[in-house]
This record gives sequence, C-alpha cells and structure tokens, in this order.
Amino acid sequence: MELDDCRGIRRWPIVKDIDERRLRGCAVLSNDKAMSEKVSLAQASEKGSDGTLATARRYAPLQDTFGRTFDYVRIAITEKCNLRCTYCMPEEGVDFKNGEQILTADEILRTINVLAGMGVKKVRFTGGEPLVRKDIVKLVEGAANTPGIKSVHLTTNGIIFPKYAQQLRDAGLTGVNISLDTFDPKKFKDITRRDGEEKVLAAIRHAIEVGFPRVKVNAVIMRGFNDGEMKLFTELTKDMPVTVRFIEFMPFDAHQIWETGEYFLSAESMIKYLKETYPDIELASGTRTEHHIFQVPGYAGKIAIIPAFTRSLCGNCSRIRLTADGGIRNCLYSDQEYSLRDLLRQGCTDDDIVATFRKAFHEKARDGFESKKRSASKVSTIKFEGRVSMTQIGG
Ligand SMILES: C[S@@+](CC[C@H](N)C(=O)[O-])C[C@H]1O[C@@H](n2cnc3c(N)ncnc32)[C@H](O)[C@@H]1O
Ligand code: SF4
Repeated sequence: MELDDCRGIRRWPIVKDIDERRLRGCAVLSNDKAMSEKVSLAQASEKGSDGTLATARRYAPLQDTFGRTFDYVRIAITEKCNLRCTYCMPEEGVDFKNGEQILTADEILRTINVLAGMGVKKVRFTGGEPLVRKDIVKLVEGAANTPGIKSVHLTTNGIIFPKYAQQLRDAGLTGVNISLDTFDPKKFKDITRRDGEEKVLAAIRHAIEVGFPRVKVNAVIMRGFNDGEMKLFTELTKDMPVTVRFIEFMPFDAHQIWETGEYFLSAESMIKYLKETYPDIELASGTRTEHHIFQVPGYAGKIAIIPAFTRSLCGNCSRIRLTADGGIRNCLYSDQEYSLRDLLRQGCTDDDIVATFRKAFHEKARDGFESKKRSASKVSTIKFEGRVSMTQIGG
C-alpha cells in the first residue's frame, strides 16, 4: 500500500500502473466514430470502490464537435435542501422528485466508473444540499477509489458541514466549495430564509483546519444586495487560503427575482470594481472556467470571477452534468436531456451508458447562448423536465 499525498487516502499501486498503461495505449477517435466505438477494449482486474475485484474498461475521451474534451462531472445527488435561497428556490420548495426517481448510490458510482473509463478525472457532488443525503460519505469514498478519478469535490451550503468534514476528508474528498453570500446576519436570513451565517463561517474555518487541499467560497453577487460586501469578501482572503468566487446571478431562481433585472451584476463590473478598489491586484491562475482569477499581493487566498450568465468561458467548458434524477445535461442552459436513469434501470451495458453520453455531447451547442436558443425553440428537444431552479439542475 502507498499513501496518496493529494487525498491522504490509501490506494493500490497496481491500480495506478494499470491506469497509466491503459492511458498510453488509448487512441482518440474522431467524434462521429467515437459515437459508438470503444477505442481500446483493454481490460484489467482492479479493486472497485467496495474493495472487490471489478472489470474496468477504457474508452475514447468524451468530446464534442467543437473539439472540447469533457473530463469533469458534476453530479446533483438530491434536489432537497435545508435552506431556501431566494436566487434558487421558493420558500415552499419546488416540485421535488420522489425518492424512487432519484439515482441510487450504486447507480451513481457505476456511472462514475464508466465515465472514468472515458477519461473523466474530476467529480463534484452538488444538489440541492448534498449533505442532506445519508450516503454522502459512501458516495465520496466510492468516487475517490474509482480508478482514474483524481479529485472529488463537494459544493455545500456549509450548515451541517462540520459534522461530516473529517469523515469526508478520510473518505477522499479533495475540495469543498462552501456557499456564503453575506456576512450580515439579517441579509443572510433575507437571502436563505433561515439563520446561519455564523455556522457557514465556522464551516469555512473548519474546512481549512481539517486540511482540505482546496477550499472555495461561493458568493452569488447581487446588485444592491451584497455587492457592497465584495471588499469584505476580498479581505477574507488576506489570511485565509481560500478562493472566493464571485458568481454572476443566473436565471435559475424559479422565476422569483432574476426577471426583475434589478439584481444582476456582470462579471465585467465585478472585475472593474476589484481593479479600482485594489489597484495593485494581480492576475493569478485558476481552473479553466475561472479564467478571471486575481490575488491581492501578499494575501493568502484568491478571488475568482465566474461569468455564469455572460458565458464568456464556454470555449473552455469541460463539464458534464447529471441531475439528481439521472438526466444528462450537456449545458447548464440547455433543456435537452438524456435519461440515464431509465437506461440504468432497464439493465443496460456499460457500452450503452457510453453511447448515451456520446450522443448527448455530440449534440452540445457551441456555447450557452446557442444552447438557450435551441431550448427555447425546442429544436431537437428529446425530453424537457421543466427545471426552473438550480436545485433541480445541480449548481
Ligand atoms: C444549487 S447550489 C447546490 C449546493 C449547495 N446547496 C450550495 O448552496 O452550495 C450550488 C451553487 O449554485 C449557486 N446558485 C444557486 N442558484 C443560483 C443562481 N440563480 N445564480 C447563480 N448561482 C446560483 C449557489 O449559490 C451555490 O453556490
Ligand atoms: S443555493 Fe444551495 S443552499 Fe441555497 S436553496 Fe439552492 S440548493 Fe439550497
């Protein structure tokens, strides 16, 4: 056994070796061919998530017709949540799917295993609030032990995070994004319809103490509501080694406030504000969809600006989205879905799963604007679930 420093979890050396050998032998097919073909049928016996021997296969990477490669899957594991953020859900919630409609842990882990065979390296569990799901530790452990998966992340509102933090770390969680939109208790209650900003701050501190390699803070910036706190958020990075992500408000709030147009603040305006407030702020590096990353000289953490609505980073997209009820979405702005759940429950083969992902990504539009246009005109819509909230899509 050897210790994997990055995750602090124990892996089997043989798995790594097999993985690398297979990677070297893996050719890339053109998209059309890749629709139905596997590149290499090299198979090997590996330890599965439950420690038993499992057969893993290597397929061609998942690509679209614009040459983008998709190696990051974001999986919503529940639609339910212990908060009711105004920019996400109404007070009474949304039309939640019943338990049977939601993917089981085994279905999720099987999907991750197949995706890892297609070159997916990064998994994020989100929701809804992923920590309200009882089997979250099992899911993280299973994903972290899947050969080929290099990092497992979680997006949470932080309210009950400290209770699970150590278990999640031990299970192999590498990164956590904790959502906090304001430091003001009254505003916190206005936005989430619950108390708890102290709990969320404590969760951020706890995540650092437990030693997660990547801790990020998600803040949806709304004009006239919390844009005045951007400086406070930036100051959080003075001593804390976190990346604060200022996210543009998107129209997935179950038709509550986005449409008023009052609250939207563009990424461009946020960058302008940062540059004016911190004239010596520097560009720093980040992930592909966090192209706009800054650091105040001497500060421990960073600031990322996420143009979630203005969609200027679609060319860098590497994301696969899976909804809690098993819908594959090739873009946040697309309402075109491919039901993996039905397929899984019909007793499909791994090759069938691969073919469904290929079909979904073969049909991916150039960018989020094109996706939205196609969705509105219902061009080639296969199935539309009428999702109106981020909790139903998986943020
Ligand atoms: C849907 S939540 C799910 C995970 C968890 N419940 C949380 O809040 O972190 C994921 C992220 O989406 C963000 N989000 C939700 N609705 C949004 C919207 N309409 N526009 C922009 N971001 C949104 C949340 O702030 C959060 O950071
Ligand atoms: S943003 Fe997250 S915490 Fe807020 S209501 Fe939506 S799912 Fe819950």
